[in-house]
Amino acid sequence: MGLGFCQPESIDSAEMSTVTPPTRFWTFTVLGGACLLVYLFATAPTELAAEGPNQKSISTKEALTMLAWENDVTRTLFTKEIVGKGKTQGLKFHEDWADQDVIAGPLPALFLRGVALEISTSTVPLNLFLGSDFPIESSNRFNDLQMKEFKAMREDLLPRHFIDPATGEHVSMFPDFASAGPCVSCHNEHERSSKTDWALGDLMGATTWSYPSDSVTTDEFLAMLSEYRKGVEVVWGQYLGELDALQDEQRPTIGNTWPSEGLYIPSHEALRDSIDKMSNSALFTQMLNTATF
Ligand code: HEC
Repeated sequence: MGLGFCQPESIDSAEMSTVTPPTRFWTFTVLGGACLLVYLFATAPTELAAEGPNQKSISTKEALTMLAWENDVTRTLFTKEIVGKGKTQGLKFHEDWADQDVIAGPLPALFLRGVALEISTSTVPLNLFLGSDFPIESSNRFNDLQMKEFKAMREDLLPRHFIDPATGEHVSMFPDFASAGPCVSCHNEHERSSKTDWALGDLMGATTWSYPSDSVTTDEFLAMLSEYRKGVEVVWGQYLGELDALQDEQRPTIGNTWPSEGLYIPSHEALRDSIDKMSNSALFTQMLNTATF
């Protein structure tokens, strides 16, 4: 994804000088212990004690672009390694996965919906939704303004950043492409689909985020990221809970091994670890490069 994540720029050691105790835990999770340790060793204790006004900020556009990156990494891993490889092991994924009598994992769009729902119950005023101009689920249809922006996205396939005058919210939309055969076949064959000629590579919709202010402090960005990650943890927990109901011979072993190796499902820690490996260093670099006073 061409987010321009890794421009080499000098790292200012005062970047996170106002990390407060509650966020320190999440900073560890979010940025990885190693990065933080390097930072701690390189920074005078007096700087760590500094509080308040000189927190660096990140534009909401940049913050949402970083979240979109994290979401892309998570969704791709889930779609390919869990849904794709899991199916070959006999694991099921279904749109009614949350029903009591359906023992299955969520489809990628519903995984994202579950995460969005968790975020909406938090105190962080972040909204996330996967919309389309031709949705399966009518509530996923863009509103008028989003539709106008999405039409422009169809022309150049680039993200859109704008303010919604009705809510005053800062909105960022990121393209969602038909990146694999099953996206196309499932949507074309679905009984409620409003379009049946999707082709591979088509722009199918847009991941749409919104946030009330035009910029966030680094602490606020970490809070957004950790809410997203908590949402993933909750949805993952729900999925692993469903697997309990499977017969012994159909039930995958939960641990460090993935479905590409057999009837296995990664624990949340193993999933987190893989996402961290792909995401943390890019996010860390981008955060240091974009945060300004
Ligand atoms: C096995 C079926 C299936 C597969 C595979 C699948 N989807 Fe979906 N998708 C759905 C269903 C069902 C919904 C509606 C879920 C809801 O919100 O209730 C949906 C929702 C969506 C939406 C929101 C708009 C809408 O149609 O409601 C987008 C965008 C989307 N999917 C894109 C994709 C992409 C891109 C892929 C491949 C990476 C993909 N889907 C794979 C079934 C599928």
